Amino acid sequence: MLTALYQEHLSVLTTRYNNAMTHFGIDAIVLSTGEKSYYFQDDHTHPFHAYSGTQQWLPFLLGAETYLILRAGQKPTLVWPVRDDFWHASNPVPSGDWQKAWNITLAKKSDKWFASLPSKTAWLGPNPLATIAPYDGLKAYIDFSKAVKTPFEIQAMRQASMRGARGHVAAKEAFLAGMSELDIHLAFLQASQQTAAQEPYPGIVGLNEHAAVLHYEHKAIESSATSRTLLIDAGASEHGYASDITRTFVRHDDDFNALLNTMNKMEQALCQSATSGLAFRDLHQEALIGIAGLLHEHKICSLSVEEQLAKSIPQIFFPHGLGHLLGLQVHDVGGHQIDQAGTLNLPDDKAPFLRLTRTLEENMVITIEPGLYFIPMLIEKMKAEIANHGCDLSKIEHFMPYGGIRIEDNVVVKNDQPENLTRIAFNNL
Ligand code: GLY
Ligand code: MN
Ligand code: MN
Repeated sequence: MLTALYQEHLSVLTTRYNNAMTHFGIDAIVLSTGEKSYYFQDDHTHPFHAYSGTQQWLPFLLGAETYLILRAGQKPTLVWPVRDDFWHASNPVPSGDWQKAWNITLAKKSDKWFASLPSKTAWLGPNPLATIAPYDGLKAYIDFSKAVKTPFEIQAMRQASMRGARGHVAAKEAFLAGMSELDIHLAFLQASQQTAAQEPYPGIVGLNEHAAVLHYEHKAIESSATSRTLLIDAGASEHGYASDITRTFVRHDDDFNALLNTMNKMEQALCQSATSGLAFRDLHQEALIGIAGLLHEHKICSLSVEEQLAKSIPQIFFPHGLGHLLGLQVHDVGGHQIDQAGTLNLPDDKAPFLRLTRTLEENMVITIEPGLYFIPMLIEKMKAEIANHGCDLSKIEHFMPYGGIRIEDNVVVKNDQPENLTRIAFNNL
């Protein structure tokens, strides 16, 4: 029997797309996954990720040059690529109950499977065919609805969270054993059962000062039995749905660990506040207030919370946004959209990197990821540009070798009690 969650998921998607067809007066929509792309002047391809709008329809990972045809009142059609190719593994259509809900057409590149589509057919996804054009406004209409996840999608993200959490526990052990960034990353991949190319985003593994580089992309091979801090931001996927988890681990119970403990409490409180009706900008502002309180409490800045906010001091230590929508894309689509028409609510100067400006709705899945970093460039900027900043520069100097802290959980927004997928995953290992 078709699993109930997938069946329900398909029916939600069908309704969304039928509504779109009615709204735009179109008779069919074709979705594409995209084509493989090659490194410049090379015969190797970049890792392939199917377009998320197409991937969303099926309970297994889709490859390149795969198409879906949607028509109101008809079973959807999956156009599956057939290749005469002895260089690569064959790609049989996955077996399973899902097939009952689909018409499946096997097609070679030269087959004209699109020849009999209605004249009012719209294209969604990369590489449109010359005969089918994208339709103005359709992408925004569909993207807006992706923020609210179906139970099938949330279940996939629960599983992605479990795999990610297993990886983080292994990474912590590798750090405490004095391993290098590369070996910590390998320990993460091993425990979360994936290759680096399968990660939902390139894992960030920074020891010591590297923890202050927000998207640190190297994996140093030197090991150190005395490394002070590990910041690891790495996730896993299930059916293409991502977890996006950050943990900061320390070796010593010292004053940096005290900062970490305060951050951890603050982060959990923010996660618990992620309920329907809240404007995410307001939660970001709460985080800035929390950072200002922490800076004052730990005697890093002598100014009051209000004074710090007026001078934008928290943004020196927490320069990124509090979080984003999460789904098939780690930074999921539609975070700045306020309606299906595609009207944008862009971040302002106070939080220029905020990826989510929407009002939270039940079953949106979001990240909450406050950080506190000692970034030399921003400390210099503060010294140069903010008079009477009130910060204790010798204390900041003392913390710089630790790099920084980020704690990131994935949360399902609820009307009353949010579901913290990440904490639940760590608790259930
Ligand atoms: N891993 C990227 C992010 O946390 O947004
Ligand atoms: Mn994130
Ligand atoms: Mn992350």
